Amino acid sequence: QHCFRKNRDGFMYCEGVRLQNVIDTMERRPFYLYSKPQITRNYEAYENALKGLDSIIGYAVKANNNLKILEHLRSLGSGAVLVSGNELRLALNAGFDPSRCIFNGNGKLLDDLVLAANEGVLVNIDSEFDLENIVEAAKIAKKKVQVLLRINPDVDPEVHPYVATGNKNSKFGIRNEKLQWFLDTVKAHPNELNLVGAHCHLGSTITKVNIFKDAAVLMIQYIDQIRAQGFEIKYLNIGGGLGIDYHHKGEVLPTPMDLINSVRKLVISGNLTLIVEPGRSLVANSGVLVSRVVGVKTNGNKNFIVMDGSMAELIRPSLYGAYQHIELISPPAPKAKIQTFDVVGPVCESADFLGKDRELPTPAMWAGMVVHDAGAYCMSMASTYNLRMRPAEYWIQDDGSVKKIRHAETIEDHLRYFEGL
Ligand code: LLP
Repeated sequence: QHCFRKNRDGFMYCEGVRLQNVIDTMERRPFYLYSKPQITRNYEAYENALKGLDSIIGYAVKANNNLKILEHLRSLGSGAVLVSGNELRLALNAGFDPSRCIFNGNGKLLDDLVLAANEGVLVNIDSEFDLENIVEAAKIAKKKVQVLLRINPDVDPEVHPYVATGNKNSKFGIRNEKLQWFLDTVKAHPNELNLVGAHCHLGSTITKVNIFKDAAVLMIQYIDQIRAQGFEIKYLNIGGGLGIDYHHKGEVLPTPMDLINSVRKLVISGNLTLIVEPGRSLVANSGVLVSRVVGVKTNGNKNFIVMDGSMAELIRPSLYGAYQHIELISPPAPKAKIQTFDVVGPVCESADFLGKDRELPTPAMWAGMVVHDAGAYCMSMASTYNLRMRPAEYWIQDDGSVKKIRHAETIEDHLRYFEGL
């Protein structure tokens, strides 16, 4: 499952490429490195799981919006799930088929909805005001919009509260009690809206497939209720959220096959097209953040490895206390002492850490380290805090060659924002 791993020789490889050889050719700045074949394999896992079902795999672009990655997923047949006008513009630029795109979000703006209506993208209704905006957009675009209702089934995803989205008090979606109001209002706009589906998204990093099944059972009940009022419902969208193995301890986690099999019968007997919206499980394990050791220090009873990578490039540990596995990419010196370290960055925040209490050999200056499973929600959440410009991205291609797929930002890029002012 992990395509970045250590060989018996103690060096880390990915797709046969030794990472030390890669960093030896690069300037000393953190960068992201992905495996293109791993993204393909992750996509194929969903494709295989969905055999025999009518389906759309909608890649959640928020997980990683690198244009080359989008183009690659599109070439494999993926659709796209979008949460902003700019994600929609980027997906169109990458050539995604609009009829396999879904525009989600609790604060969609009118201009962006007009674009979605013009392009024929599926749109999720998230609230009363959102419905009004979609109607308005349909009128402006003079197009009928295919809509899905995002309903909160209130199934506990058992995840960090920041990434739970389908519960009773969530800012996303609508509550079942309000269903009738939405159905009546959609009915009142036959020229603007065509209700074609129901959507839910429970949360992210979910590691039990029963959670998806419980939600699907409820969603099917809602769909029956909606159909009983004469709507022709085609889509059941169960959102994204499948977790991955961040801990690297050999734990067996559900696969896309397990996820799809848990809802397969319901989808078939409901005569529905299944939409899934995976982000993390398509890209997370395909990437690492590569950074280097700037120095080692001790304060009080803490040992620190100070890296040139930081919370600006990779914020998940700081923001959610998330665990991402950290390893050296080359064997340490033979007598290197193994100690418990906090792996930290140079940013002026005590929250700036990549890992806490990690058992690691004391590394040499400029030794390369990777933060694993950094293909999702890492680069896409990167900031320029402390004027750390966003890093470059590379991927290993099918033939084992390493190719740049995004330039690093520079101070010149930053200064351009002030030109002519
Ligand atoms: N669909 C909807 C409506 C979503 O809100 C999300 C993620 C997805 C699909 C994709 O979920 P996935 O398969 O990637 O779990 N920044 C957080 C994750 C936030 C997820 C937000 N919604 C993190 O770094 O863990």
